[in-house]
Amino acid sequence: MKINIAIDGPSAAGKSSVADTLAKRLGYIHLDTGAMYRMVAYLCKVKDISLDAEDEIVKALRKADVSFMTDGTIILDGAIINDDIRTEEMSMSASLVSKNPKVREALVSIQQDIAKDKGYILDGRDIGTVVLPDAEIKIYLVADPLERAKRRVLQNKIKGIDSDLEKVFEDIKARDYQDSNRKTSPLKKAQDAILIDTSDLSQDEVTEKIYEVVKEKIKEG
Ligand code: DC
Repeated sequence: MKINIAIDGPSAAGKSSVADTLAKRLGYIHLDTGAMYRMVAYLCKVKDISLDAEDEIVKALRKADVSFMTDGTIILDGAIINDDIRTEEMSMSASLVSKNPKVREALVSIQQDIAKDKGYILDGRDIGTVVLPDAEIKIYLVADPLERAKRRVLQNKIKGIDSDLEKVFEDIKARDYQDSNRKTSPLKKAQDAILIDTSDLSQDEVTEKIYEVVKEKIKEG
């Protein structure tokens, strides 16, 4: 039996890395919905569209040729944009562009369509509450903001990017505020989501915890 798994939580709580490892272990497909908002932010940058011009953004999105490959590669108008969307600038722009209800509506509909056949792990901010309210398993990951900032700096270092801890920490707090306080689908734990604080856990430990929950669920049938 294949199920869908929703993983939500604030930025840099480890959602994407855990979802990736878990998907490989289960033979599921991981859809990083944050990357979709980042793609829209990047589209706004290249087309010079203001991040709050929602009608113009949706129009540009409809015209754009976008592919989300199952290995996480995103192709926009023929170019692979995986690295372009991972800058701190795009993190903040994605958070800003995600406030627009019409942009959310367009992306949510794509996400629901992709996940309809089950066997998907979606990570984001509104998966358990809006995108897949019927997901068989919902996880809500949290971690101390400073711990998240340290992890992000380390991830950047591995990628060869130098970053300032203080600046990353401030950006994370600003995004937490923006994502949790926007009017449409703010970041929030679904009532039936399992809360995991990852502050003192390794990525493997978090993956193992969720894997155990999935095993139980699949056994129950
Ligand atoms: O997961 P991430 O940090 O790559 O996401 C970038 C931004 O996109 C995040 O700050 C808020 C927005 N986002 C959202 O509003 N809903 C989602 N399901 C995923 C991301």
